[in-house]
Amino acid sequence: MAELKYMSGFGNEFASEAVLDALPKGQNAPQKCPYGLYAEQLSGTAFTATREYNCRSWLYRIRPSAVHKPFEKIAQGDLTHSWDDCDPNPNQLRWKPFDIPPEGSNIDFTQGLHTICGAGDPHTRHGVAIHVYGCDISMKDKCFYNADGDFLIVPQKGTLMITTEFGKMEVKPNEICIIQQGIRYSVEISEPSRGYILEVFDAHFVLPNLGPIGANGLANPRDFLTPVAWYEDRDVESGFSVISKYQGKLFKAIQGHSAFDVVAWHGNYAPYKYDLNCFNVVNTVSFDHIDPSVFTVLTCPSLRPGTAIADFVIFPPRWSVAENTFRPPYYHRNCMSEFMGLIFGKYEAKEEGFAPGGASLHSMMTPHGPDRDCFEKATEADLKPQRVADGTMAFMFESSMSMALTNWGNETCQKVDHDYYKVWQPLQKHFDPNRKTP
Ligand SMILES: [Fe+2]
Repeated sequence: MAELKYMSGFGNEFASEAVLDALPKGQNAPQKCPYGLYAEQLSGTAFTATREYNCRSWLYRIRPSAVHKPFEKIAQGDLTHSWDDCDPNPNQLRWKPFDIPPEGSNIDFTQGLHTICGAGDPHTRHGVAIHVYGCDISMKDKCFYNADGDFLIVPQKGTLMITTEFGKMEVKPNEICIIQQGIRYSVEISEPSRGYILEVFDAHFVLPNLGPIGANGLANPRDFLTPVAWYEDRDVESGFSVISKYQGKLFKAIQGHSAFDVVAWHGNYAPYKYDLNCFNVVNTVSFDHIDPSVFTVLTCPSLRPGTAIADFVIFPPRWSVAENTFRPPYYHRNCMSEFMGLIFGKYEAKEEGFAPGGASLHSMMTPHGPDRDCFEKATEADLKPQRVADGTMAFMFESSMSMALTNWGNETCQKVDHDYYKVWQPLQKHFDPNRKTP
């Protein structure tokens, strides 16, 4: 296996070559590229996007990507962007851990994609989709790309070895990776694996603005890692498959060689990974809560200032020190949709029922908050400085879109916890107009 090397930084103009001097000097598309390579631009924004947002990379490859037979539609299992299959459901929703295909199922990453919920439309490039993946075999002589948007991949079980056109990334549970629109990649695994995917159609993920926090904090740019160039010059007589997700449907084209033939590349449009342990947590040191936006790792902004198509938010291990404060997440109703997952451990507001590999969805204006045990304990707790969430990593995909369930999310997966509403039923009335406490 190739040694894994990464370049550090977020949105940088990187340059990487697997063969010395394979990158043309001083221009992008010379009459003849070094070593007989072809130059190919991969655009991640409109050519005319302002400099702040503009992203593209130049790939120097053995053959252009255009060398393939025609695409043909293939079966796509439970992957969908059709949001009218189920009636709208404003209930609090929770799922038990999604199934991991047992060994022998012969399901790879592209075949094991299941869409739970989403909104919007890849045709107009506006919307969001939430998937889980479950697979028991590696992709072989096959790559995948998404023409509809970007994937933010959250492995929950099993390490992903991802070969991309830009190089190789190893992504373990408690790490995430972003693979942007159009980038071709193949996923290898060493055990039956499961994880979550947030797909955005509109734009690319960026770091949130820090405002008064200042120049440092939350996810720091230096901790984002982009792979270095890696290639193989490999003919595949039996056919190398290129799987395309295009307008929500899967297609396959065959070519006679590996798609991973990029010998060198430069640009600021490249996949990257991030270790959630690197997140610098900021929170109150006096009283009350800072809103959970302070836990945002990455955001995909909408055109409304300060409002995300989707945020990726984590609840990492940290100190809780707020005085005279109900410390667990407060009861709330939100104008955003909140999809939560758990990588490992126990989430502080729900110690039971929300398990690693499961999920919850609290849709727009659907009330939620701590269960009774959590409320009673937190109300009486001795408020010393205290560690919370040690050994735990819960996360949230928060979206300004009102999401619809798919048939798979609603029924086929058979993981919906129909008793979820019961966690709030035992909450007692404590009101007494004659007793003002404290
Ligand atoms: Fe919430």
